[in-house]
Order: sequence, then C-alpha cells, then structure tokens
Amino acid sequence: MTNPVPGSIFSRMSSDLLQQIRTGGEIPRHVAIIMDGNGRWARQRNRPRTFGHRAGMRAVREVVEAAADAGVEVLTLYAFSQENWGRPPAEVSALMALLELYVRREREDLRGKGVEVHMIGEADQLSPRTRRAMEGLVEHTRGGKRLRLNLAISYGSRTEIVNAARRLAERVLEGTLVPGEIDEALFSAHLYTARDPDPDLLIRTSGEMRVSNFMLWQLAYAELHVTPVLWPDFTREHLFGAIHEYQHRERRFGRVLAS
Ligand code: IPE
Ligand code: IPE
Ligand code: MG
Repeated sequence: MTNPVPGSIFSRMSSDLLQQIRTGGEIPRHVAIIMDGNGRWARQRNRPRTFGHRAGMRAVREVVEAAADAGVEVLTLYAFSQENWGRPPAEVSALMALLELYVRREREDLRGKGVEVHMIGEADQLSPRTRRAMEGLVEHTRGGKRLRLNLAISYGSRTEIVNAARRLAERVLEGTLVPGEIDEALFSAHLYTARDPDPDLLIRTSGEMRVSNFMLWQLAYAELHVTPVLWPDFTREHLFGAIHEYQHRERRFGRVLAS
C-alpha cells in the first residue's frame, strides 16, 4: 500500500500520528537516515539488487514529503558512501543512473514543495554527467524554505573530517588563523554540514547496529533509532513513529537533569 487514497484507513492512521507528534513534543530539527536494506529486500523477492534500489526511490520520495509535513528543518539521507564505490561496477552504474532518474523525476516536485537540496560528499568523484545532474538539482531548488534536504553521495565522514583539518591547516599557513583559534565551532564550520544543526535523530533501517562512516562528528549526541524495516518498506508512518519515540527519550547531554 504505497499510495493510500485520502480518507482510507492508512492515510487516517498517518494523519493521526502526524497530529500526535506535532502536538506531543519537540520535533527533531535535523533527522539523518542511513537508508539500508535495498539488496536484502530484492533478495527476498528473488530479484537483482538494483530492483531493491529502484524500490528504495519510492521510500525517499515519501519520507522527504513526510519530513516536511512534520516540520523537520533538515533531512540528511545517506544515499551512497565512499566505500560503496567498491561494489561491483554494474551496481555502481545502476545506482548512479537511478540518482539521475531521481533528479529528473523529482526536481519540479521538490521545488514546488519548497525543498532546498544540497549535496554532501566528494562531488569530484562523480562522473561529469551525474555531477551535472546533482548541481542542476541544487541550483533548481535553491531558496526552498520548507525543508533542507542533504543528499549524502560519495560521502565519507573521515574524509570530511580530514578535509576540514586540511583547510584549517592551510589557513594557518596563509596566516589568516592561529592554531589557538581552532575550536569546535570553527571545526564544525569547515564540514559539509556547516549550515546545519547537528542531527537530533539518526535512523538506520534494516537492523544493522553501526554507523558505517556517517556523520561521525555530527552524531555526538544524536538519539539512535534502529529499525528492522528494510528501506524500500519504510513509510511516512515509520518516520512519524521514530519521531514519536524520540519525543519520549530523555536527552541528557552528559548532565544530570534537575529532579
Ligand atoms: C542501501 O541498501 C543502499 C546503498 C548502500 C546504496 P544496500 O544496497 O546496502 O542493501 P543491503 O544492505 O545489501 O540489503
Ligand atoms: C551504508 O550502508 C551506506 C548507505 C546506506 C549509503 P552499507 O550497506 O554500505 O553499509 P555496511 O556495509 O552494511 O556497513
Ligand atoms: Mg547495506
């Protein structure tokens, strides 16, 4: 049931949940998602892995819309890691082709919905065509006010951190910075996510209990939500459910809460 018709029991369930989270507590400002499990979803159906990736696109569409409806400010989706370049070439090409298809299909809709897209990751590792498609999408959606969508593509958190360290070292060499001025805020300002608050909630689908080189710096105090649901099966109800659970967590940031 991917597209419940308005008024059906499914859309009512989701709008009740939405109502509940919108009145039930703080909405996480930044939600980050490790979209995992496409391959297993396909294998369960005796289909090639790329069939699962295609199905995962539907979930992306639905979750972006749901995040905007919930009032999330920033949604970061881990779509392709630097380590994913090591997959078989046919799978990598299929993933890049799907990315380009996503851009073609969704660009008008994303702009219409007020979604501003950013890409985080090593853009120069993409083929010129994929890179142009991504840059076109970023350009086309600039100024969207409802939701900022970071697509993590060819992303690796350690590389991001090393690049930040390198840029700071260069500034020291140029004489525009002294080492004593380097603090957490300045370091954060040199990451891809400079403009974003840190993620409040990290969701990983498919049950894996690891972060796989994703936002290692930014996740310092994120609440973690791991669900066994495989990414192609993830729906707006699942997102709202994760936010609902988040609203019942006690975030302490290392401190003791006043009793
Ligand atoms: C996530 O699904 C998509 C990408 C990493 C690109 P996987 O392809 O990792 O699916 P599983 O983990 O093998 O099931
Ligand atoms: C993490 O999933 C990367 C993305 C979801 C894009 P992987 O499937 O690549 O991670 P591992 O190999 O299970 O750690
Ligand atoms: Mg995986």
